[in-house]
Amino acid sequence: MASHKGLSRTAQIRLVSSHEEVYEPCDDSFALVDALLADRSNLLEHHPKLCMEIGCGSGYVITSLALILRQEGHGSNYIATDINPHAVKVTTETLKAHGVDAELIITDIASGLEKRLAGLVDVMVVNPPYVPTPEDEVGAEGITSSWAGGENGRSVIDRILPVAEHLLSEKGWLYMVTLTANNPSEICVQMRKKGYASKIIIQRSTEEESLHIIKFWRDFDTEVDGIADQSDSGFMGYLLAQVPLFSSRRDNSSNN
Ligand SMILES: C[S@@+](CC[C@H](N)C(=O)[O-])C[C@H]1O[C@@H](n2cnc3c(N)ncnc32)[C@H](O)[C@@H]1O
Repeated sequence: MASHKGLSRTAQIRLVSSHEEVYEPCDDSFALVDALLADRSNLLEHHPKLCMEIGCGSGYVITSLALILRQEGHGSNYIATDINPHAVKVTTETLKAHGVDAELIITDIASGLEKRLAGLVDVMVVNPPYVPTPEDEVGAEGITSSWAGGENGRSVIDRILPVAEHLLSEKGWLYMVTLTANNPSEICVQMRKKGYASKIIIQRSTEEESLHIIKFWRDFDTEVDGIADQSDSGFMGYLLAQVPLFSSRRDNSSNN
């Protein structure tokens, strides 16, 4: 099928480099890329000028996004950040091996980029540290900062959301990984109060966790009044009603 043209290339991102302190692509990374693939035709029509990843790790996600968009010859620009210098080095090598140009910055979320990128990011992808942990593990040195998310796994997520809101363009989209423990419905309600609609693109349960890949976009028609009255379960039910359910580990042959 035409829609499958080139997709295997995306699934075949080669891990040309690694480091013991850099997060290796895992179920969450695969689910995020699968969400981008599921939304591929919208992404191609979106014509993003600037795409950004916060917390790029190995570079698997930003490289996949670039390959998805490259299929139609889009001239997008890419920027990625990570707080871990080793991650930025590994991402540089992953991008290079796939012929993708991107600007890479070692920073905390997008610190120092607020002015330069305000309102310019058309697509943002984030697989944040989301695992509930003691607060003092958040931002710890090395690999721990890849997953340590503090109370309810929300410490880093709650710092990323206002930054995303500031950097996204008017037509900007945010794709973010969350875990059930992060209370994704509450995140959606919070974003909705700021004028963002949301949709779960993929929900996937693995042996260890239940992941949701949520897409946010500015919805100028969003009714902000009365949102707080919606029960979490009602709102989640609404979101989930739109989602194809996946309930397995990644299977390269069937998911792509
Ligand atoms: C779960 S890993 C995801 C890595 C990669 N995006 C993927 O999906 O495979 C989270 C990444 O966020 C980075 N990170 C954690 N806290 C950060 C912060 N405050 N600012 C920027 N990056 C951060 C970690 O170093 C790690 O590379």
